[in-house]
Amino acid sequence: METQQHICPWWLGYTFINPLRKYQHNPDKILAPHIKPGMQVLDYGCAMGYFSLHMARMVGSEGKVHCVDIQDKMLNNLERRAHKKGYSDVINSMLVGEDYAPENLKNQIDFALLFAVVHEVPNQQKLFNDVYTMLKPDGKVLFAEPPGHVKPGDFEISIAKALNSGFIVSNEKPALKKLAVVLTKRA
Ligand SMILES: C[S@@+](CC[C@H](N)C(=O)[O-])C[C@H]1O[C@@H](n2cnc3c(N)ncnc32)[C@H](O)[C@@H]1O
Repeated sequence: METQQHICPWWLGYTFINPLRKYQHNPDKILAPHIKPGMQVLDYGCAMGYFSLHMARMVGSEGKVHCVDIQDKMLNNLERRAHKKGYSDVINSMLVGEDYAPENLKNQIDFALLFAVVHEVPNQQKLFNDVYTMLKPDGKVLFAEPPGHVKPGDFEISIAKALNSGFIVSNEKPALKKLAVVLTKRA
């Protein structure tokens, strides 16, 4: 079922890349357990790439970070920042409604990050179906929502949709205190 879409304005993207954010969301603690050199990973709803650039460092020059957003201003800023850091060859940015096509990445993704985005997506079921399609068997998703902004009940409803797509909730504990879960694709 589609719900109304409330996309965060593009200029708010600057607050997400504030360096002080690492004290709340430490990318190494949150991502390092899931990402290895050479992996193909997905940052869906990447905004200006707070996590994407760390993911690029973690996968290295042999890996790929597929970054998807619905706002081109977010992706333009991400691309500029990736270029400055020398990650242009590792980052593949895709705009929803233009060059983002989940079937092109079928069974290719080792790890997907859905961080503070699912509540903004009108058709969550389609999103989880698409992520399931893109993941390799045994691939993982870190699904996290902002506590205070998303109610625990709504987070549970989103998880039910993920299970509907075929995901299993893993026993792995994410390095986040609330509203976070690791999902795996059945092998
Ligand atoms: C709250 S921000 C979170 C950004 C990022 N994940 C982070 O933690 O820094 C949500 C992002 O999701 C994007 N977004 C919203 N709806 C989307 C959709 N249907 N598909 C892809 N991206 C979407 C927004 O443009 C925005 O950049």
